[in-house]
Amino acid sequence: MKYTAIILAAGKGSRMDSDVYKQYMELGGYPLICYPLFVFEQSRVDEIVLVTGEDETEYCQTQIVDKYQFHKVRKIVRGGSERYLSVYQGLCAIEDTDIVLIHDGARPFVTVDIIDRTICAAEQYGTGVAAVPAKDTVKIADEQHFVVCTPDRGTVWMMQTPQTFRYPLICQAYERVIRQHIRDITDDAMVVECGLSQPVKLVEGSYRNIKVTTPEDMEIASVFAESTKIDKKIKKFEKEY
Ligand code: CTP
Ligand code: MG
Repeated sequence: MKYTAIILAAGKGSRMDSDVYKQYMELGGYPLICYPLFVFEQSRVDEIVLVTGEDETEYCQTQIVDKYQFHKVRKIVRGGSERYLSVYQGLCAIEDTDIVLIHDGARPFVTVDIIDRTICAAEQYGTGVAAVPAKDTVKIADEQHFVVCTPDRGTVWMMQTPQTFRYPLICQAYERVIRQHIRDITDDAMVVECGLSQPVKLVEGSYRNIKVTTPEDMEIASVFAESTKIDKKIKKFEKEY
């Protein structure tokens, strides 16, 4: 079996509103994107396609991939204007594989165990996406912000990444949503839900596997970075200049 990860770093982080895009912000002494790259390097994934913004490919090649010796990064490709279009660019860059893992570059605290769980499910069911049970009560509201209904919390899950699929299945699903111009797609599971009848299997993620989205997430990430000590491990790989 061949495993390929698409790591997404082509967003502009509008909700973070920082000078540097959030995926390149400094966390524990390293650019944030180094954390997920480091974990995927340690995993059973064979190759990584890194998807970046238009003007960031050179920076990613020299200051991230070469500097920290992320040998599994085989390609750096330019993303699109929406997350799902960036994923599509990543999929187009894959020559052949069996399993595709799609991961947000803005989730620094993914673990090898979470990666493995999504892979096992994808091998068994065709799909395996990381998620955690909702802690808060979720409401559906109308446009005037009046509550319409309350889904049973026991059935509500917060989606994370990696979202992992058999290669032909995810290609087929993406081709369909692109062809049909379906919009407002916020994760890869949705692409399968919209495009195919295949059910999507949830696997255990982690409450630490946060997506750094707003400034307060960076404060939480700094605390997590301190306790995971990944930064110390990355240091060993850093090329001396
Ligand atoms: N992403 C991407 N291409 C896009 C949009 C997002 O590769 N056109 C990536 C981001 O870099 C991030 C992940 O998808 O790693 C999750 O997206 P999100 O948290 O929404 O990041 P941004 O789109 O950058 O942030 P915002 O929505 O606040 O602008
Ligand atoms: Mg976004």
